[in-house]
Amino acid sequence: MALAQKDNKKRATWGSKLGFILAAAGSAVGLGNIWKFPYVTGENGGGLFVIICVLCVLLVGIPIMAAEIMIGRRGQGSPVTAYENLRGNKSLWKLLGWVGVVAGFIILSYYVVVAGWTLDYLFKALSGAFWAVETEQIPPMFDSLYASAFWNVTWMLVFMCFTIGVVIGGVQAGIERWNGVLMPALFLMLIGLLIFAATLDGFGEAMRFVFYPDPSRFNGASSVLAAVGQAFFSLSLGMGAMLTYGSYLEKDADILRSAAIISVLDITVALMAACILFPVIFTFGFEPSAGPGLVFKTLPVIFSQLPGGRIVAIVFFTLLLFAAVTSSVSLLEVVGSTVMERLGWGRKPSVLASGLVIGIFGLLSALSGSALSGVKLLGDRNIFDSFDFLAAECMLPLGGIGIAVFAGWVLQKKEAKDEFESGAKTPQLFPFWRILVQFVAPAAVALVFVQTVLSLFTGAEVIH
Ligand code: TRP
Repeated sequence: MALAQKDNKKRATWGSKLGFILAAAGSAVGLGNIWKFPYVTGENGGGLFVIICVLCVLLVGIPIMAAEIMIGRRGQGSPVTAYENLRGNKSLWKLLGWVGVVAGFIILSYYVVVAGWTLDYLFKALSGAFWAVETEQIPPMFDSLYASAFWNVTWMLVFMCFTIGVVIGGVQAGIERWNGVLMPALFLMLIGLLIFAATLDGFGEAMRFVFYPDPSRFNGASSVLAAVGQAFFSLSLGMGAMLTYGSYLEKDADILRSAAIISVLDITVALMAACILFPVIFTFGFEPSAGPGLVFKTLPVIFSQLPGGRIVAIVFFTLLLFAAVTSSVSLLEVVGSTVMERLGWGRKPSVLASGLVIGIFGLLSALSGSALSGVKLLGDRNIFDSFDFLAAECMLPLGGIGIAVFAGWVLQKKEAKDEFESGAKTPQLFPFWRILVQFVAPAAVALVFVQTVLSLFTGAEVIH
């Protein structure tokens, strides 16, 4: 079962089907759910955005996730190798694999920065920093962290070392086992926090914000693109992470069912995070559109008010850290296994080299709030926001179209059917899945793109 096989002759597999689901859910559930979803929801006006996100997950996310797992299991390789195995050495589809690897590289380079903030907050919780000050003084703590070059770089590098350590050690002995304990623990913790959030005065207003569609607070095409991007990011789709995990999957696993379970779990965690944060935001009069610092500015406020909040904070940030590790591991696994397969290096040097190069590149994001804060790349976005926009809102959705087209049109119907039915409890759903990946998913994502490009020309506001 070892992924970290020495001989590389027989391809590694997961220890069990559940092990795969947990690892894939571990990849999906991460900072994207708890850090990103609430702030992007805040920036895009709430309700309508949330509804579109859920629709994207169900109609586009689940079928594309099944397509990715299918391509991986049939292609038996990391993205580039899988397309090569399926359509030959000269096939242009290999490029889609490379775009995925580059996207993974970029995402990991800023993901580790956010994970570093989580580490910083864990230490703040341990040292009691949130309890030594007034409530109003908690949110500015994030701004000071963001402006500190030293701490951003230090925590980012520490976190990168964790990620490298896990991926070098082989995924399932560590991650497959840890996930089984940590993910349920995180879930229970979120339920507890949700119950507390429900007692706050701002709960009603928050529920209205999160669930009631109010078009006046919506940004049109750019918000729809943000929703598509968020769905892809949160489900780890569009660049080949699920594809790579799928390549370690046995033939008797049910692809569609796995994709559905992973996606529903993922969106549930994201909604829970929003239902916890927004009551705090409305109760304490914070700004919903505070951007990437939102969760760090608001959650500690709950912790500072809760009886026994210090323990809760310590446990929460520890779990969040683990959720981040299980996601960053899947990103590094894609880049590392590509280096392994393309250059024929061993797992250790491949992963170490990939991690180090990404870590160095990550300095650009780590310094976006300090030394490089004046540098704007795309529109008026700083480096960190530009990478996030480029990867999540451009590369992942475009990669997703590519994956859907490949699974729906390039793979022969017989190949796809064979793979879909292998291990499936509901093989009769094949035609539905095929219609979704052939038409609905690529058309929906493409439409959003065209809309956004058009609105660029008509001069509409596109920057969130
Ligand atoms: N889905 C993870 C999260 O929500 C992040 C992530 C891991 C990811 N692997 C990915 C995003 C692959 C895009 C592609 O935190």
